[in-house]
Amino acid sequence: MTTPRILVLATGGTIAGQAGDAMRADYRPGQIGIETYLEQASVLGIAAEFTGRQIANIGSEDIDASIWSRLHAEIDLAMRDDSVDAVIVTHGTDTAEETAFLLDLTLPSTKPVVLVGAMRPADAVGYDGMRNFANAARVAGDAEAPGRGVLVVMGDRVHSARDVRKAETRATEAFRGFPRESVAIVTPSRLDWFGAPWRVDDTASLRFLPLPEVPILAIYAGMSAAAASRQLSDDPAGIVVSGVGEGNMPDPVRQVLVQHARRGALVVRASRTDQGLVDPVPDDLEDGFVAARALGPPKARVLTALLVANGISDPAKAQRYFDER
Ligand code: SIN
Repeated sequence: MTTPRILVLATGGTIAGQAGDAMRADYRPGQIGIETYLEQASVLGIAAEFTGRQIANIGSEDIDASIWSRLHAEIDLAMRDDSVDAVIVTHGTDTAEETAFLLDLTLPSTKPVVLVGAMRPADAVGYDGMRNFANAARVAGDAEAPGRGVLVVMGDRVHSARDVRKAETRATEAFRGFPRESVAIVTPSRLDWFGAPWRVDDTASLRFLPLPEVPILAIYAGMSAAAASRQLSDDPAGIVVSGVGEGNMPDPVRQVLVQHARRGALVVRASRTDQGLVDPVPDDLEDGFVAARALGPPKARVLTALLVANGISDPAKAQRYFDER
């Protein structure tokens, strides 16, 4: 087997973070540059040739449309560059699921693209970033990785972008998947896939275009129509409802959202619960709503924004993208 040539696009996060003192609880994400990082990783003896590029060096709460655009453009180029076999993106864990899903929806699955992060800064006791990085390289260099879309490696688990979410604030095993818990188990020396690749046609679902602002409306018991209206006063083109239970909301709020759907906004019902399906119900047809199915609010928001950007605001057409696996 030839040595995989892996392009590493660095965006910051805790994997590049430092506290300045191994015992400190607080730290700054995005402190170590990619050249230094790859130099440190070189002692591990990972069987790959790395090229690094710094896209940003920030906490992932600040990842914005311009960084998404740059990442997309760089990976799109790499997909067509014969000197690159795979791409790793180092990323803060807080919003990794949003970046991974956006890239998954807008890139072909011809070459492996793997997002990786860490929960502890590089100078902390028990830094998890180097093992995660070695695991990510193992996945990115694997001949069976193409055709699985964008993957997220955290701990010794490999998750698909569509399934993954951050589920813990501090634990090193902070990520979970739904409905597939994970798609492989990995260590630096071994990789076990749980099934065959599922992205066989190698095309992207949607075009990457400038994204409109899509708010998430957080529902709570007794929420009033006035509270909902205030948050939607600028008439967004798309709205994701972080509903209670199976995407439910008080009736006065529902009536506000029906008005937004009637003026052409794409209104998507997701759930504020940890996981589970939000399926279409008969009322959705009349209300003009879409059900988020397995997608939680942050990822439903990414898909809603992309659909609107691609001119897909018809609820029935939009529903098909939420139904996909
Ligand atoms: C971040 O998301 O940038 C900070 C938290 C982390 O990377 O774990």
